[in-house]
Amino acid sequence: MNVYDSNRMVDILKPLGYSPNEDPETADMIILNTCHIREKATDKVFSELGRLKQYKEAQKAKGKTMLLAVAGCVAQAEGEFIAERAPYVDMVFGPQTYHELPEMVANAIGAFGKNRVVNTDFPNENKFDYLPNEQAEIGASAFLSIQEGCDKFCTFCVVPYTRGSEYSRSVEQILDEAKRLIDGGAKEINVLGQNVNAFHGEDKLGNEWDLGKLLFAIAELPVERIRYTTSHPRDMHDSLYAAHRDLDKLMPWLHLPIQSGSDKILKIMNRKHTADDYKRIIDRLKKDRPDIEFGSDIIVGFPGETEEDFQATMDMVDYVKYTSCYSFKYSARPGTPAANMMGLVPEKVKSERLTRLQTRIGEHQHAFNKKCEGLIMPVLIDRESDTPGRLVGHSEFNQSVYISGNERLYGSTVYVNILEGTPNALRGEIVTDEIITTKTG
Ligand code: 5AD
Ligand code: SF4
Repeated sequence: MNVYDSNRMVDILKPLGYSPNEDPETADMIILNTCHIREKATDKVFSELGRLKQYKEAQKAKGKTMLLAVAGCVAQAEGEFIAERAPYVDMVFGPQTYHELPEMVANAIGAFGKNRVVNTDFPNENKFDYLPNEQAEIGASAFLSIQEGCDKFCTFCVVPYTRGSEYSRSVEQILDEAKRLIDGGAKEINVLGQNVNAFHGEDKLGNEWDLGKLLFAIAELPVERIRYTTSHPRDMHDSLYAAHRDLDKLMPWLHLPIQSGSDKILKIMNRKHTADDYKRIIDRLKKDRPDIEFGSDIIVGFPGETEEDFQATMDMVDYVKYTSCYSFKYSARPGTPAANMMGLVPEKVKSERLTRLQTRIGEHQHAFNKKCEGLIMPVLIDRESDTPGRLVGHSEFNQSVYISGNERLYGSTVYVNILEGTPNALRGEIVTDEIITTKTG
């Protein structure tokens, strides 16, 4: 979502004369778009700011002004504290206010005689109603944010506090944005939300749509692939199962976080489902779409997690055989209920469990990649390559696929003969010169 937000900041700053710049030495403004989800990410912000300050000072020495901004969830959570600890920062603004950037920039450069901006409001108006239609950077695989915020309040998570309560965009706005992305060359649309399957946007007639219904409508558009992320097991619904069953364009890979395989831990995490509920969802999806594979997020060392609880997580990993999975050591976040819980798991135990878990996840992932050897798979070349003659694309199961080919193939889908499944990716060769679809369709 931060990638999506950063791209939209580019769009909103364009009329002011700003454009993306990879070189911090010549930048007129640097925006650090931040994540607050774990402590490590937050810590990085201040060390990064210290580094970026040098560019600002170098510009100042040349008589120029460089604006330095902190955006995103750390800005939302730390607000004034950032302004105090890093007084050289010009703007601090949360994820729901970046549509106000033109005004904030004017204030920061002193156009109205004001200076420092700290903007951590949750404005009444919605940013999506103020963002420009034009999008500068549309890749072969594009994000489309449809839902934001969360009302679930898992006890470990800062999102409900930093992103705010759940909000769904209107169906019309979403479909218009999808059309523009496709016109701009997107072949794959990845529908985004913190809790994307809780989507409940309204159409023009005021009827509420769920995610399943929305996916059916997006599939009517000339898009090749559709994905959605991130979903919550509690919000699976009939039309979403139907979408998996009936829509070939909906990719057979789903990121469905479990967090823990232990019912006791799931309960104190406030996930509001059991391990068995989760298995039933997996089974139903497999029944509807037999080739589907899964990804997940898992936390180890949540307060109160015993070896037995951890084993239940390992059992779940073996049951689902995730083909990729993010795993984290529990990190106490200020202001969340879990931060005050008893039964802290020692750091050493957390690390040891994480290693065991990641080894097991890696084994399943490698086994799946190996199983793909000898198959011919459609691959969307969706990443521009740094190395001439080397292309990177994605399989339907979201595996990275490395192939040789001309960079003009960027944005095309080609058939690839998979030669090797490595622990983290696939390597293959293009089967024929036949291109299934090109960037222009
Ligand atoms: N500690 C560790 N991991 C966390 N996540 C969210 N909050 C925490 C935390 N306090 C993980 C969850 C979530 C993913 C985005 O980050 O697994 O799904
Ligand atoms: Fe955080 Fe996801 Fe739980 Fe919402 S559902 S509180 S975003 S982990």
